[in-house]
Amino acid sequence: MCGIVGYCGRLNAQDVVLNGLEKLEYRGYDSAGISVLDNNILKTKKRAGRLENLEDALKDDPFTGNIGIGHTRWATHGIPNEINAHPHLNSDGTISVIHNGIIENYGELKDELLSKGYTFKSETDTEVIAHLLDFYYKDNFFDAVTNTVKRLKGAYALVMLCQKEPDTLIAVRHESPLIMGVSKENGCILASDIPSVLEYTRDVIYLDNDEMVVANLDGYKIYDKDLKEINKKSEKVEWDLEAASKEGFDHFMIKEIFDQPKAIEDAIKNKMKDDEINLELGSFTKEELENINRIYVVACGTAYHAGQVGKFAIEHFTKIPVMTDIASEFRYNSPFIDDKTLLILVSQSGETADTLAALREGKKHGAKVLSVTNVVGSSIARESDKTLYCYAGPEISVASTKAYTTQLIALYFLALDFAKKLGKISDDEVKNVINELKALPEKIASMLKDLTPYQEIANEIKEAKSIFYLGRGVDFISAKEGALKLKETTYIHTESFPAGELKHGSIALIEEGTNVFSIATQSKLIEKTASNTQELASRGAHVYSIGRVGDKSLEKYSNKVIYVPESLDILMPVLTVIPEQLIAYYTSLAKGNDVDKPRNLAKSVTVE
Ligand code: F6R
Repeated sequence: MCGIVGYCGRLNAQDVVLNGLEKLEYRGYDSAGISVLDNNILKTKKRAGRLENLEDALKDDPFTGNIGIGHTRWATHGIPNEINAHPHLNSDGTISVIHNGIIENYGELKDELLSKGYTFKSETDTEVIAHLLDFYYKDNFFDAVTNTVKRLKGAYALVMLCQKEPDTLIAVRHESPLIMGVSKENGCILASDIPSVLEYTRDVIYLDNDEMVVANLDGYKIYDKDLKEINKKSEKVEWDLEAASKEGFDHFMIKEIFDQPKAIEDAIKNKMKDDEINLELGSFTKEELENINRIYVVACGTAYHAGQVGKFAIEHFTKIPVMTDIASEFRYNSPFIDDKTLLILVSQSGETADTLAALREGKKHGAKVLSVTNVVGSSIARESDKTLYCYAGPEISVASTKAYTTQLIALYFLALDFAKKLGKISDDEVKNVINELKALPEKIASMLKDLTPYQEIANEIKEAKSIFYLGRGVDFISAKEGALKLKETTYIHTESFPAGELKHGSIALIEEGTNVFSIATQSKLIEKTASNTQELASRGAHVYSIGRVGDKSLEKYSNKVIYVPESLDILMPVLTVIPEQLIAYYTSLAKGNDVDKPRNLAKSVTVE
């Protein structure tokens, strides 16, 4: 998803902007561009492809100046090329704008501007903003921005420059993430995410919807939606840039897979105090819980899979039924929400547009909202009644790994906390589950000692055209996550099925040599899954089973068995996903893919 950086201060703007954009590369992009006010002249350069292309172009002709903006674009309107790359300019190139988000009424605005004689170079929605700024500019850039913003519908974080006011940078945020790093020495840096500012400052201001920043070399002012100047306190970022670097691993994905024992340990520690569950502001009181009669868990992608395991966990420990829904469907499905509804949202980034929209839909109808997220200060965290943090540390690789396992930990704790407060579980049982949770990091560490089996499987499956994943109960959720991880990193078609459902149609796809991953870790269901898998093996499928250590029953119908350590059935998804992640990683490498930035994907999906 697009990354934006704006700088105003004593340092060289080109350097700060390019450095900031490098830190946002993880979000995924296909072109990049920069504008700098260089000796009072607005200069702009853009390139398709990687940021290095832009950096190379600037080597021979660098920009000097203290105010600049830059952008990495993830195409939504128009193909990824130099013309569609940001910044976008007005016709005489004196106004420049970068944008993250989508302008929903851009067609209408474009027609209006065309009728006024404006011409368009790009296919983007953003270019209308540059021309609107031009249209509204009389002699005051601030007024031009406020009049332009009033016309926009949709989501936007914008940072803008105007050559006629060469000491000013203006930014505004509406439904798209935007933060501002502030420092007396280094000035202010507006960015889509914190890693862009950390080299210059740890003091960050989280901008809220419809707030506007006007910055110049003497400082900045923030205005609310009524254009009243407001005071906002900065918050200290405690984590390190180091935590967002590869630390000697070849890729972020493998580093983040290896981060999991420590991340899970941190996730557990932060949910306990004096050996007791303590979710602090991340849960509800007994009375509040007693007043809830319907629970939804809503999320997207991998976070949705975590939410589905969360459903199993809450139902297992509290015996209260839970419904799950994909966030992009939820708000259009007319869900039954009222003030007795609890809406649980799961989101690593805390910025996913569909999940945020589900949150707002819930709040509109009076639901209590609890979010499980990894990013402190994210929109979802700030708009929820309660927030439970994952403590995974920054996750840079687009394919989610440690965020998933720490989301699972958060949801297990939530389920235990609810069950305990509602008297549905004994103290001894809680203790037992917590001991099993605490044992997970060591079990994962043991699975990371020998990577050869995963590398071998990767080489065996790398040419496959299609791969099936199956499982029953919570193993089916692990099958779904395994299939998603492999598909997004390797571009191999994968599908997941509840094991028993295959013979109702999809078994027709099985032929000699079809690769199948069969997940069989749930004690009561192993035999059932085994017999479904046998049906596939007898039709020529090549079966990889993932099962519990010591369960020899899988061997008779599997070409290979990957054994994972024992734990409670409900906790097995934390362990089952480790081989799935490793197989996805190594298969992606074997195919020569860009594993940390798979094609067409973005880390933070801030558009609907
Ligand atoms: C897959 C993946 C995505 C995200 C999804 C939700 O590896 O990372 O499926 O899980 O886009 O993102 P968040 O959790 O940021 O809301």
